Amino acid sequence: PFTGETNWTLPEDFNNFPPERPATAHKGNFGRIAIIAGSLGYHGAAVLAARGAQRAQPGLITLYTNEEVYHSIAPQLQAVMVSIWNSKLSLPGDFNAVLIGPGLAAGDIPDDMKMMTRHVWRDAAVPVVVDASALDWLPLAPFPKNAIRVITPHPGEASRILRCSAKQVEANRPNALREVSKRLGNCWVVLKGNQTLIGRSSGEIYVNPSGNPYLAQGGSGDALSGYLAGLLAQPTLQVDPLKTLRYAVWQHGATADKLTATRNNWIVEDLLKELGSVVPELQDLPP
Ligand code: APR
Ligand code: MG
Repeated sequence: PFTGETNWTLPEDFNNFPPERPATAHKGNFGRIAIIAGSLGYHGAAVLAARGAQRAQPGLITLYTNEEVYHSIAPQLQAVMVSIWNSKLSLPGDFNAVLIGPGLAAGDIPDDMKMMTRHVWRDAAVPVVVDASALDWLPLAPFPKNAIRVITPHPGEASRILRCSAKQVEANRPNALREVSKRLGNCWVVLKGNQTLIGRSSGEIYVNPSGNPYLAQGGSGDALSGYLAGLLAQPTLQVDPLKTLRYAVWQHGATADKLTATRNNWIVEDLLKELGSVVPELQDLPP
C-alpha cells in the first residue's frame, strides 16, 4: 500500500490467535487491567472503554474515574469494578496493564492525577496504553527499556504531538507514525483512520485492511483502546505486542464490516456486543 517497510495485516496471520484457553484456567491467568478514564461531559467514554476491555476477556477490570462522574458510570457496569480515583492510589500495583484515557478532558483533570499517570508511563513494568484526550496533557517521558508502551492517536491527536496539521499527518502517514514514535521513546503507535497503521520509529509498519467509514462515530475509538488494552493485560498476549495490536485493530474493523454488511444504522453499542467475534479467514484486500 505504501512504499518502504509497510505490510498488510492478513487474517491468516491470526490462525489460532489468541491461543485457546486451557480447560483448567482461572481468572488469575488472564491478567488484571486498570483503566483510568472519564471526566465531566465524557463519562460515556469511560463506559465504552471498559466494555471494550470486557470483550477482550481479561481476568479482572477496574475502572478508576473522577468523583463527579462516578455515579453516571458505576451503575452501567456490572462485571467491572468502579472506584473513585484518589491521589493515594499506587498504580500499577498488581495490575498487568494500565489504560490511561479516554474521556480525560484536560481542564477537568486534577494535577495529582496527571502526575500519577505520568509516573505510570515512566516507571511501570507492565504495558501502558494512552488514548484520546490524555495524549494532549500527558508529557510522555522516556520509559524502561523493553516495557510495552502504546499510544492510539487519530490524525488530529498525532498532529498535536508533532505540532503540525492533521493534513500534514495524512499526507504521509507512515512518516508521521515514525516521527510520533521517535518523540515518545520509541513507543508503539496505532495511527487510526482509514487503513490504520501500527508500528514504531523503525521496523515494519502494518496496515490494517478491515473497517469502514461507519466506524467514524464518537466512541468507536474508546471501544478500541479498551479492547486493545484488555488484550495486552493478558500475559500470553504480551509476548508479541505487535501481533496483539494488529489483532485488536483487525478485529475492531472486521467487526464493523460484519455489522455494516447486515444493517446500515449500527451504533457503538452494537459494535461492543460483537467486538472480537469475527473468525479470521481469507478476505480480498482493498485495491
Ligand atoms: N475507515 C475505517 N476506520 C475508520 C474510519 C474510516 N473511514 N474512520 C474512523 N475509523 C476508525 C478509526 O480507525 C478508529 O479506530 O474509527 C475509530 C475512531 O476513533 P477516534 O477517532 O479515536 O474516535 P472517538 O474517540 O471514538 O471519537 C471521536 O475524538 O477527537 C476527539 O473530540 C473528538 O470526541 C471526539 C472523539
Ligand atoms: Mg478517540
